[in-house]
Amino acid sequence: MRPSRTLGLLVLALACTTLTLAETGAEGWLRYAPLTNTAASSYGSLPSQIVILGNTATDQAVANELQRGLTSMLGRPFTISQQTEDNTSAILIANLSTLNKIFTVSGDRLPPESYTLGPKVEGRSHRFIILGADPRGELYGVFHLLELVGTQQPLPTKPTTESPSSPIRWVNQWDNLDGTIERGYAGRSIFFDNGHVRSGLTRVHDYGRLLASIGINGVTVNNVNSDLRTLQPEMILEFARIADQLRPWGVRMSLSVDLSSPQVVGHLPTFDPVDPTVIAWWQSKVDEIYKAIPDFAGFVIKADSEGRVGPSQYHRTPAEAANAVARALKPHGGVVLYRGFVYNNQLDYNDLKADRARAGYDNFHALDGKFDPNVVIQIKHGPIDFQVREPVSPLFAALQHTSQAIELQITQEYLGQQRHMVFLVPMWKTTLDTDLRADNRSTPVKQIVEGKSFHQPLGGFVGVANVGLDTNWMHHPMAMANLYGFGRLAWNPNLTTDQIIDTWTRLTWGNNPAVVSTINELQRHSWHTYEQYTGNLGIGTLTNILGYHYGPGIESAERNGWGQWFRADAQGMGMDRTVATGTGYIGQYPPEFAKVYENVNTCPDDLLLFMHHVPYTHVLHDGKTVAQYVYDAHYEGAATAQTYAPRWQTLKGLVDDDRYQETLKLFTYQAGHAIVWRDAVTRWFQKESSIPDKQGRVGNYPNRIEAENMTAEGYTPIDVKPWETASNSKAAVSNQPTGCTLTTTLNKPAGTYNITVQYFDYWSGKSHFTLELNHQPIGTWIADDTLPPARAENQPNGDTSTRITFPNITLEPGDTLTLHDTPDNTEPAPVDYIEITKQ
Ligand code: GCU
Repeated sequence: MRPSRTLGLLVLALACTTLTLAETGAEGWLRYAPLTNTAASSYGSLPSQIVILGNTATDQAVANELQRGLTSMLGRPFTISQQTEDNTSAILIANLSTLNKIFTVSGDRLPPESYTLGPKVEGRSHRFIILGADPRGELYGVFHLLELVGTQQPLPTKPTTESPSSPIRWVNQWDNLDGTIERGYAGRSIFFDNGHVRSGLTRVHDYGRLLASIGINGVTVNNVNSDLRTLQPEMILEFARIADQLRPWGVRMSLSVDLSSPQVVGHLPTFDPVDPTVIAWWQSKVDEIYKAIPDFAGFVIKADSEGRVGPSQYHRTPAEAANAVARALKPHGGVVLYRGFVYNNQLDYNDLKADRARAGYDNFHALDGKFDPNVVIQIKHGPIDFQVREPVSPLFAALQHTSQAIELQITQEYLGQQRHMVFLVPMWKTTLDTDLRADNRSTPVKQIVEGKSFHQPLGGFVGVANVGLDTNWMHHPMAMANLYGFGRLAWNPNLTTDQIIDTWTRLTWGNNPAVVSTINELQRHSWHTYEQYTGNLGIGTLTNILGYHYGPGIESAERNGWGQWFRADAQGMGMDRTVATGTGYIGQYPPEFAKVYENVNTCPDDLLLFMHHVPYTHVLHDGKTVAQYVYDAHYEGAATAQTYAPRWQTLKGLVDDDRYQETLKLFTYQAGHAIVWRDAVTRWFQKESSIPDKQGRVGNYPNRIEAENMTAEGYTPIDVKPWETASNSKAAVSNQPTGCTLTTTLNKPAGTYNITVQYFDYWSGKSHFTLELNHQPIGTWIADDTLPPARAENQPNGDTSTRITFPNITLEPGDTLTLHDTPDNTEPAPVDYIEITKQ
């Protein structure tokens, strides 16, 4: 018998399978990929016995996680025991309450949620200790150890302590009870379906694990635009099932509530927050919640904003409303996060003093000091709404006697909706590091929200995450870096962008140096690139703000009540927010800081149009005019986006194929959509300003053949709206359900070319296309890109415009190019143009 050869081949085959094993992204950064033997051997000093003191659900989760992670990464078995004897060589996990006399490290001074990690050698005993101040501290210590091993960092040589920056480190999910997610781009809710909490909550448990690993300690599970059923007794019992899943991971659940609940749910005649019956209702409702959810974290409240009712209905202040609810929570240790996002969305465009950016400060600064200690004002990082570039909200410096949390948006609402790679940590760091110079002293935003600058009891970080049922949580594999980065910054806002991205990349994609440096580089500059091809100089993202906030839709921001104006006319653009001649917004900042923005010469260029109205000929600090800067930035940004896919392709075989292909597809899509953005914004600017692009690129596309100019059978030309979102502002749409063609005769010199078809891909259909050269097929495809979910956007515009490119096509003068299309459902196979570019 000679089984060895067959067996050998089998083993080899299995080994190869392991190398290329499909990865789904479900594990996020907690993959625990095996280290090489050499790397693993450097952790030889880690004892193989894990001893856990305590047996709560968290203790068990902690020990299992460590065992799972170390066994997988180091390729040797780790055992778990609760023995306190004979553990002279062990990884010992404890917290201050499970600590007993065998433990000789003093943890007395550990602040809440902190941990001490490191070796403790005493006589014969070689212990590696993870001592948490509390069960959460244990968890965070264990995840830190796993991260060190996963990124091949040396272990500490002596016990070292880490503490979180601030007590509030939450994510908000904007999930609706019907299972949809407001501004969610990765599938349906992991929490809800069809008006109820889902029956299976495995994903919630897994989410808790991911969140705990980055130090997040709270999740608000439902939309800030809260369903009025949220506080009904039967719903509270359902929510309790979510809290049960999160509890082992030290993640407390909270709820968004509508202030009208006493009336809607409690059937009281009023919801006036100071009415004694309303106060009593909140108290009994909160008591009911704590019976079902003993570790309930509290409420998030959106009121008097975007159609939500609020205290203004009774001429009460946000402080009166927040305090009424907070007093009910106080005996249980709960908090109220009252959102600072209160503004009037029916502003008068013709009023040159009207300014939405002023709203946060105007509504809250006079209330400073009037909020109870368990109220935190949750403030979006900028004064408008998560645009690609905004200044810091002036409210941070104005509330000096009130706890504050900064609200950051992880879900990429205005930032490419997880179809574009945009790594947000550099943007968040720009905000957090901004020193507002309140009282002429150093008061960086990060220290204000930590509660340190103004000595507040609470404070912290809230990230709007909106993960969904997509297996990889956020749809774009690169988007998970934002969830990861948010958690890391909430724990320690002093970490650098480089530290955060490097750790995420290693854990998510592996330690191969080429992989690490390529992904780090791609991510690091992606915010700047996105800003370049969407909206520069502080003008806002320039997306269609009346639609899905995705593709370009420039003028949607103007002449309506929403107040995201940039006030463009033939001479110039920008909001004059100066004290001297404008809305006075700049005066809401502390004087030292305001001075810089008030003066057009000292105002940083990247916020110029946010702060000032200037002519298109205004010269920026780099010597370019505003108009030319806009043209150049869009061309540069779109050109950088074209490099993503080829740079990614250098990693083929170095990362698993499934995630490789998924990412490649998204990068290819992004490259095309960046061109849609570039063309829309630059054409609009050129038309508005009548200033031509010095390089002659804008509006001049010699390699394009417009669909409406091709010989058509079964196609009708239409005007595209807004006009800037299609080349020549027109498209061709099919009028024949059974199929139609566009034909053109080429007159390119003989050579090798790329042929691109720019078309519109609606959510409502999957049109079929075949491209033929001299009646021989070059390619066939279905219009089914990975567009973000949107329900009704079935039109040719900046959301739906996309492209496919066929490289290396040999052409001769006189060749015939034919596009055969079959529309599907309500998608009429719309085509914008065909572009033929030299290789
Ligand atoms: C944005 C977003 C809304 C959301 C709101 C909020 O306006 O588009 O969907 O409800 O912010 O933060 O409350």
